[in-house]
Amino acid sequence: MSEAILLVGGQGTRLRPLTDSTPKPLLPLAGVACTTHQLLKAKAAGVTRVVLATSYLAEVFEAQYGAGEELGLELVYAVEREPLGTGGAIANAGQFLKGDGPILIFNGDVISNHSLEEQYRVHESSGAVATLHLTPVEDARAYGCVPVDDSGRVKAFLEKMDNPVTNLINAGCYIFDRSIIDVIPLNAVISVEREIFPELVKQHVQGYVSDDYWIDLGTPEAFTKASADLITGRAYSPALGSLNMEYLANAAEIATSARITGGTFLDEGVIVDESAYVHQSVILADSRVGSNAHVENSFVGRGVKIGSGIKLVNVAVGDGVEIHEGTTVSEGARLSA
Ligand code: GTP
Repeated sequence: MSEAILLVGGQGTRLRPLTDSTPKPLLPLAGVACTTHQLLKAKAAGVTRVVLATSYLAEVFEAQYGAGEELGLELVYAVEREPLGTGGAIANAGQFLKGDGPILIFNGDVISNHSLEEQYRVHESSGAVATLHLTPVEDARAYGCVPVDDSGRVKAFLEKMDNPVTNLINAGCYIFDRSIIDVIPLNAVISVEREIFPELVKQHVQGYVSDDYWIDLGTPEAFTKASADLITGRAYSPALGSLNMEYLANAAEIATSARITGGTFLDEGVIVDESAYVHQSVILADSRVGSNAHVENSFVGRGVKIGSGIKLVNVAVGDGVEIHEGTTVSEGARLSA
């Protein structure tokens, strides 16, 4: 398994305004773009060449990674002029593959500590055309679920339901035989989850179940949690090694009476004033947290000014926003400039 396709072309609408100028996969987790975490994980499992399937803000990826020299990978870009959906993106990217071997395909918005090597071994030994990483969740009602038989073979792809028959869900990381990529129609909008997998089940799709750390980065809350989990050591990434820290700060200026906890990330040029409290949050470059402010489970963009005494809980703040002293910000708010 030396080649991969990384799906990074989505709009990231649930993460607006954070994704207004930065594609979701390039938002930082513990100071490192999600895409970098994922590329280094693939590399550690033996992948040498990755096709990035881009669409939304496509040019930003190439500007950041070029041909991949810095990461020690060969990177190529398959750009969709109009987003083709996850299945259409795989077909489009397939044209840029070089080899005939099995291909690792992964969503660009997941941090997972499952073993790609193990998933590959299951693919090889089962003889399936596709092997999916499946992860158990506490409440599967919010997802489509994926029941498997005793041998791990996928029985069906079921839509969201009130009484899911299993708590296993599609974790967004697949191994596909090359032959099934080549038959997906080109230049058509297709969903791999809704259109391709239900068809492939008629052949043989295998499940690779693991309960290792896994998180889908669909929302600002999930992003801040994943970032904190990497910093505190609940999650692992080869981009960082094993951390076990209360917070991570890149050249930030922190008042001695401020309290920073819960795996918070403070980027360069961040200032945290007296008696401010920042818990399990991400604060990007050149932002300032005013005195006595309380910032919890929140993702704060670049150049943001948070006034004295402001309380932010589960809030996403876009670049350049100023929140003046005395403002009440409701829990879960999305603020843009
Ligand atoms: P939301 O708009 O908030 O749902 O986010 P999203 O656009 O990222 O969609 P979703 O979370 O369903 O996408 C899962 C993965 O597939 C992400 O890594 C996306 O970048 C990627 N993706 C989704 N749609 C497309 C597409 O049309 N083209 C490509 N290349 N990738 C896509």
